[in-house]
Amino acid sequence: MDETELRAEIARRRTFAIIAHPDAGKTTLTEKLLLYGGVVKLAGAVKAKRGRASTVSDWMEMERERGISITTSVLQFPYHGFRINLLDTPGHADFSEDTYRTLHAVDGAVMLLDCAKGVEPQTKKLFRVCRQRKMPIFTLVNKMDRPGRDPFDLVGEVESVLGIAAYPFTWPIFRGGTFVGVCERSTRRVHVFDPARAGSSAAVGAEIVEGQWLPVDDPAIVEIVGEEGRARLLDELALLDVAGDRFDREKFEAGEVSPMFFGSAINNFGLQSFLDSFCELMPSPRPRATVSGSLDPSTSGFSGFVFKIQANMDRAHRDRVAFLRICSGHFDRGMKVRQVRTGREMRLNNPTQFVAQERTIVEQAFAGDVIGIYDTGVFEIGDTLTDGPDVIFEPIPSFAPEYFARLVPDDPLRRKQLLKGMEHLAQEGTIQLYRPVVGRSGELLLGAVGQLQLEVVRYRMASEYDVKARVEPVPHQVARWVSRVDGAPVDVQELARAGFGMVTIDVRDRPVVLFEGEWSLHAAERYHPELAFAETAVGVVVRKD
Ligand code: G4P
Repeated sequence: MDETELRAEIARRRTFAIIAHPDAGKTTLTEKLLLYGGVVKLAGAVKAKRGRASTVSDWMEMERERGISITTSVLQFPYHGFRINLLDTPGHADFSEDTYRTLHAVDGAVMLLDCAKGVEPQTKKLFRVCRQRKMPIFTLVNKMDRPGRDPFDLVGEVESVLGIAAYPFTWPIFRGGTFVGVCERSTRRVHVFDPARAGSSAAVGAEIVEGQWLPVDDPAIVEIVGEEGRARLLDELALLDVAGDRFDREKFEAGEVSPMFFGSAINNFGLQSFLDSFCELMPSPRPRATVSGSLDPSTSGFSGFVFKIQANMDRAHRDRVAFLRICSGHFDRGMKVRQVRTGREMRLNNPTQFVAQERTIVEQAFAGDVIGIYDTGVFEIGDTLTDGPDVIFEPIPSFAPEYFARLVPDDPLRRKQLLKGMEHLAQEGTIQLYRPVVGRSGELLLGAVGQLQLEVVRYRMASEYDVKARVEPVPHQVARWVSRVDGAPVDVQELARAGFGMVTIDVRDRPVVLFEGEWSLHAAERYHPELAFAETAVGVVVRKD
């Protein structure tokens, strides 16, 4: 493939995730985007809440039982010549490290807000990760068909709570208190919301007709929004123009300003203009940071990293799939690549792509795409594959867990299987595992960023390793990776003797101290100025001995 062709393929890739608090409408929006992409023909195909017949995006039995999405699925769909990769993140209040890691595999995010609730706690958490990576973020305010907060209020909240400037591309219009449409600021056209047409998902594929568009000074507008509504709209548009700077694309790409849209996912309203602007503005895969400088997606050979490993995608086959985000070059089926960590060469014969449960064999894929590779246990989260020189991407951080527990087998004779299973799940990145440096050997503690992660481990121990076990709480509440300020290795035995917390080693042999509360962390920080206590594991020196 020549470079021009490769560039063109990469230029039409858009790889993103939706960040939202549960119930903001992420599932609905995902489904509608697939509908606009012509991938699913019927509303309801993706959606799977309790009591619903089936789901396309849920894989694990447990998800079906609970009606929540625990795993992160990857959906690819076409839209107006673009290839969009949507990496889905779990929508449950209780989320896991998968969610964080997914945000390391995307080039941008869409922040979905409920118009009545604004910025909610989980949105804030996820936003923080996007911010760290300085990624471009769109804001879509959903459920405009329902009573909500004042739009100026919402803009203010995004700016003050999240510390990012918001630039409204569309602006909602109300008649009395009723939502009647949005005005597109750049064209000064009004998009009329017609509740009669709303929600009729009779529209299929890309043929969805969202409703009428009229210039703001068209006489028919008055009929729809009323004199007062029109006057108010003109005032508000003028106010937005004087109050805000012009939209700055560079600032958007650096994650400093977020284009904001208003719509209603369930009613297919406002999604078209959102999606069009999204495709136009959201950057295609950009150069990726590596430890030896940045890697251009189109001039380098094939490279990518594993951001997720999913076991048991297909229960009939008991298989494991490693999800690889391609960062540069292109991929051909059967290609020979090298795993940088081990130097091992492998041929990728049957990589798959996913439209939810439907898997297709990938013949070709490009930077920005995600492919699934069957894994016989050779991959770890963060592994790099390449067909050229060794590439080491900036590591995906391990995040400080907030929940700690011990897993106790019901049958003490199954202890060995339990330990083996836990090691596997930890290597796969499902859970964090800590081995205390003093105390009973074989004692392992689990750490999770969400309570549900612990439940997932318990469930998978029973279904995949045949070990029934219970989760027992431990008194620890805070975990910190420890390194020495001078870069020398940490003497974990000496640290353990200091008695500030439980000193442990994680699956990558990095020292981690578990504290019973913030106070003991602060005490340790005060008494050990020679040590750094980090919330993420990046940059922590791995023990060599
Ligand atoms: P989530 O994945 O972010 O958790 O949200 P989901 O899409 O499941 O949507 C949460 C609820 O909000 C659903 O209602 C959904 O129908 C509703 N919703 C989504 N978009 C809109 C919208 O634009 N307007 C309005 N009015 N509601 C919207 P539910 O009662 O939980 O389920 P359902 O039985 O109505 O589907």
